[in-house]
Amino acid sequence: MSTQPISTQADRDTLDLLVRQIRFEGRGIHSYELVDPEGAPLPPFTAGAHVDIHLAGGVVRQYSISNAPRERHRYVIAVLRDERGRGGSKALHEQWRVQDIVRVSRPRNNFRLVDGARRVLLIAGGIGVTPLKAMAHELEDAGVDYEMHYCAKDASCAAFAEEFEPMRANGRLHFHFDGGDPSAGLDIRDLLNQPRDGEHVYYCGPGGFMKACAEAAEHWPSGTVHFEHFKAPERGPGEQAANDALDSFTVRIASTGQDIEVSKEESIADALAQAGVAMETSCCAGLCGTCKVRYLEGEVEHNDYILSDEEKTGYLTACVSRATSKVLVLDL
Ligand code: FES
Repeated sequence: MSTQPISTQADRDTLDLLVRQIRFEGRGIHSYELVDPEGAPLPPFTAGAHVDIHLAGGVVRQYSISNAPRERHRYVIAVLRDERGRGGSKALHEQWRVQDIVRVSRPRNNFRLVDGARRVLLIAGGIGVTPLKAMAHELEDAGVDYEMHYCAKDASCAAFAEEFEPMRANGRLHFHFDGGDPSAGLDIRDLLNQPRDGEHVYYCGPGGFMKACAEAAEHWPSGTVHFEHFKAPERGPGEQAANDALDSFTVRIASTGQDIEVSKEESIADALAQAGVAMETSCCAGLCGTCKVRYLEGEVEHNDYILSDEEKTGYLTACVSRATSKVLVLDL
């Protein structure tokens, strides 16, 4: 039986970066500029990428990179302090100081811009603006026709006002302030009413906003609607989780033939860890892709929020996926 750590699909390299600048960007929102301590270029990233941020006590959180991908000398993340969250954003606001050295993963992207779009619509809700801001920079640099809509409660809650000013002035960016009443803000249904030929839409924001965008984009052509959740969506009354998975099943490690039982109470990632097979996890909610792993045989109930339909034919996320077949063979 193997007890050696086995690599997953995730790139597990981390970087020790210097917090060069912390800026107040909006009510409760700080941006953190992270650079190499020696001034070296950072690993490249594409718009929509995020990094895992390692905090004290083994806490890991994902934050999107908001600056232009052409900037190789820095990653800028923006963090909304969420008093009712799991504590990561609060810890980051309280712990990080300018000149700290912090541990950050290499960028990873589950929310990429698709090549070849004729026109791109970006719709941001609150702090969901961060990946879309990087997209706006990339589209601007590439000369692609785009329009961005940024929904927030009021101007004081909107981040990056200075940086956004040129986009607002040239008519690309539109702010929508609703004073806390979504029905008084952007009419998402109207905006998404008529998809144009070759148009793609990208959106990111809180739960109610995501639901409104998903419903309004239901009639858009397949492959043109892209989104990223920053929290697992809450299920409404009567909305059940998919529930075809077996209570318990076996995962088989293809390289060693090791069989590992997964019980009803544990995830595949938990069971692998228990059996001594290292599996890196981060969000443990099917949001970040850290635990993405290829499977070779078996039937999967996916339960994640990031894999495309195409990816689901070959990959699963070990933190939330279950099996609907007795055995799942993992490419480990
Ligand atoms: S740990 Fe984030 S998707 Fe599994």
